[in-house]
Amino acid sequence: MTYQGYRGALLHYLDEQTPEYFADGLLVINQHTGTVERCGDAQTVLADFPGLAVRQYDNALLMPGLIDTHIHYPQVDVIASYGAQLLDWLNNYTFPTELNFSDPAVAEDAAEFFLDELLKNGTTTALVFGTVHKGSVDAFFSASEKRNTRMICGKVMMDRNAPEGLCDTVASSVADTQALIDRWHGNGRQLYAITPRFAITSTPEQLAAAGRLLADNPGVYMQTHLAENKDEVAFVRELFPDSKSYLDVYDQYGLLGERSVFAHCIYLEDDDYRRMNESGSKISFCPTSNLFIGSGLFKLDDQPYPVEVSVATDVGGGTSFSMLQTLHEAYKVCQLRGSNLPAQRAFYMMTLGNAKALSLDDKIGNFATGKEADFVVFDLQGTDLMKRRQSICKTLDESLFSLMILGDDRAVAETYVAGRQVWSKEKNTTNQAGDL
Ligand code: GUN
Ligand code: ZN
Repeated sequence: MTYQGYRGALLHYLDEQTPEYFADGLLVINQHTGTVERCGDAQTVLADFPGLAVRQYDNALLMPGLIDTHIHYPQVDVIASYGAQLLDWLNNYTFPTELNFSDPAVAEDAAEFFLDELLKNGTTTALVFGTVHKGSVDAFFSASEKRNTRMICGKVMMDRNAPEGLCDTVASSVADTQALIDRWHGNGRQLYAITPRFAITSTPEQLAAAGRLLADNPGVYMQTHLAENKDEVAFVRELFPDSKSYLDVYDQYGLLGERSVFAHCIYLEDDDYRRMNESGSKISFCPTSNLFIGSGLFKLDDQPYPVEVSVATDVGGGTSFSMLQTLHEAYKVCQLRGSNLPAQRAFYMMTLGNAKALSLDDKIGNFATGKEADFVVFDLQGTDLMKRRQSICKTLDESLFSLMILGDDRAVAETYVAGRQVWSKEKNTTNQAGDL
């Protein structure tokens, strides 16, 4: 059995209220299985592992790999598109870009870049949209398989209100989705999400087919967009006049549930919160996107019924791959709504909280023994400004808050996937073969 130790300040969460912090911590990885063997105070753990090879980190913080619950890999080239709100942004920038993904070479290139970018930012798991093209998802999972990352992805289902080259049909979307589930769901670390884009781009028949796919394939996920923008909500009302609300459209077709993740949810009706709560559905809060495309201010705290909220970048409506930057913007959204977002809650959300929202907390999200050893080594001195600000921090909370406000990819020294280094800032290389 080969073990490797990683020693430095270490933080993870046992649950939302229970952070476990070791100023001098040690994480022991079983390199054979790529799982966590032990984590705790360095002196205590070392006593049980005589002769352990240990890598020491100073001015660093070891945490579980970050998790992003809503992102579009084909939109790496859509980031920073000027001057439009949702429906125009889709028509003017996003759909033209996604049309290019009929070419497998375009998809492969984007998938490789995208996964490297996530890893440079310390993100090791994400719930990801492909395009309507089946090949886009094959390209994505193939690139993820090479890195052994735990990823969830799905082929977008869309059969109306989009350019012809981006529309599938009910029959082709069902056949492609089922073939992708059969090939990829549970294959290594890859998982599948049924992905109707949103109610505007699917006919009632296609939404019904998506619901049947979800019922027929236990364990797969469902991801879509919901109540992001006022014009979008009005258009949905026109398209589905008999539905009680936007959420009710999805509900009618059997798309709610524990593994269903709805991005945005800015303009929900009170009763929608009740239905989401009752069905165990999850919300994905996308602050940089909601601000950038001018969608609105998400209510993190004052919900009529509690619904589990995760956090996400939503690249390319979102403007950063960094979960630190994402939580920084979430903090500002809360400020504008008169509430607060403590750093400890933010770091919980980007790790164990997001793992729970994806029903993956038995596998990832903290350093419990047996979990998959995905982790990030933050460099607390990643920039001159961070170094200066960290030097006057007196408490852990203060230090975490300044990491979340000032940090981005420059604050990520190293990233590990299943115990293997996949990013090193010092060496400035990503690694797919495991020989850094
Ligand atoms: N609603 C439907 N499609 C999209 C998308 O690609 N991005 C965002 N932010 N919202 C959407
Ligand atoms: Zn999105």
